Amino acid sequence: MIGVLVSGEGSNLQALIDAGLPIACVASNRRGIRALERAEEAGLPARAFELADFRDRDTRDRELADWLELCGVDLVVLAGYMHLLTAPFLDRFPDRIVNVHPSLLPEFPGTSAINDALAAGVTTTGVTVHYVDEGVDSGPIIRQEAVAVEPRDTLADRIHAVEHRILPEVVRELCAR
Ligand code: GRF
Repeated sequence: MIGVLVSGEGSNLQALIDAGLPIACVASNRRGIRALERAEEAGLPARAFELADFRDRDTRDRELADWLELCGVDLVVLAGYMHLLTAPFLDRFPDRIVNVHPSLLPEFPGTSAINDALAAGVTTTGVTVHYVDEGVDSGPIIRQEAVAVEPRDTLADRIHAVEHRILPEVVRELCAR
């Protein structure tokens, strides 16, 4: 069963839901976001774990891992989750945490990958699905797909369309393992 971590719009969560993947629950680091509404609309258990509600990051991440385990999660998917996970979380799901990122890693890690690619003047960028470690967008790569930068005004939409296609594909393959 999959646990999906989100922080914002949740369009990648929606792609996982629409693909009919076995999602046990959805967790976020913020309340009041569209992704949590999407989870509720799909009838999925959803909970926010805001840092301010816990003593520190390790405690928050331990309680987050406890809840996911309670929900039966054995594969964690970061779908636009904008927080680094600490070792107490990573240790609970070894080699079972994946992330989708809007660039061809290791190029353009971080939170503004699409704009960084535009600013750098590259002709090709893309999407990466990778395992998660303690770094910023730095774990082993599972799948990448290239996207042409031109036409620039539709780049973000074209990148998101690739994310919405390949993230469910990779997750389906990992679920089968
Ligand atoms: C996606 O571009 C994803 O690659 C990045 O954050 C964005 C999340 O979008 N990590 P959404 O919340 O899934 O719509």
